[in-house]
Amino acid sequence: MNLARDLSRALRPGWVMHDAGLDPDPWQTQLLVSEEPRHLLLCSRQSGKSTTVASKAVETAIFDPGLILMIAPAQRQSGELFRKAKDIYLALDDVPRIVQESARSMELANGSRIVALPGTEATIRGYSAPKLVLVDEAARVEDALYHSITPMLAVSRGRLIALTTPYGRRGWFYEAWEHGGDYWQRTKISAHDCPRIDAEWLKAERESVGDWAFRQEYLVEFVDTDEQFFSSALIEAAIDPDLEPIW
Ligand SMILES: Nc1ncnc2c1ncn2[C@@H]1O[C@H](COP(=O)(O)OP(=O)(O)OP(=O)(O)O)[C@@H](O)[C@H]1O
Ligand SMILES: [Mg+2]
Repeated sequence: MNLARDLSRALRPGWVMHDAGLDPDPWQTQLLVSEEPRHLLLCSRQSGKSTTVASKAVETAIFDPGLILMIAPAQRQSGELFRKAKDIYLALDDVPRIVQESARSMELANGSRIVALPGTEATIRGYSAPKLVLVDEAARVEDALYHSITPMLAVSRGRLIALTTPYGRRGWFYEAWEHGGDYWQRTKISAHDCPRIDAEWLKAERESVGDWAFRQEYLVEFVDTDEQFFSSALIEAAIDPDLEPIW
């Protein structure tokens, strides 16, 4: 253990991203220093949400050894998040040695493990007591999968960070964001808040992808899913709460 090194890192908020060659945005630094147990990140495409939580995974693995799980609807997506974390880790000096690694996991000399999982309940149930769980593309993660994650955190008091663009006015993430109250810390970043996304480019993208996708993917608004033939507002407006059912 090197106390001077650890202290100097602890005194530099966002040091993982800095040392990996990135200058973190203010919200990224806030997330990196946050000790909130449950955090929802509702962030535009390409705003840097995966990079931020990958850095958080790396910092946790170094400073608070234990199990870190990465979950997404598909293994390809959690594997992508793992790759980001590994690339960031490899860019850092003077960190614990990697003692075991595969395409989807790595174990450090201090006992930490970072593991990317497929989006299936059965696999998740095989793990216990994680320090940190990251759920990428969280609005697309099925409710049943989410409910298989939360019990793991009860004993370890591990942290949960869910990051996503919106995906309709449905599902656990939407409910947590809209109705979850103080249980969750929330961060919302639209494309206009991201200094790396150009306004001209955004204008062209709006024309190319259409209003529905643009509002969700870049303005991070919960809009009805495109599978839905009638919007929720239209359905709600058509329902008269005073009418008794006729059957
Ligand atoms: N603070 C930063 N400074 C410079 N580049 C950054 C910063 N944060 C993120 N990036 C870069 O921006 C790009 C997008 O980052 P990232 O993949 O983390 O975004 P995302 O929000 O997860 O995107 P997606 O919606 O596609 O999943 C990456 O090339 C990443 O390296
Ligand atoms: Mg991402």
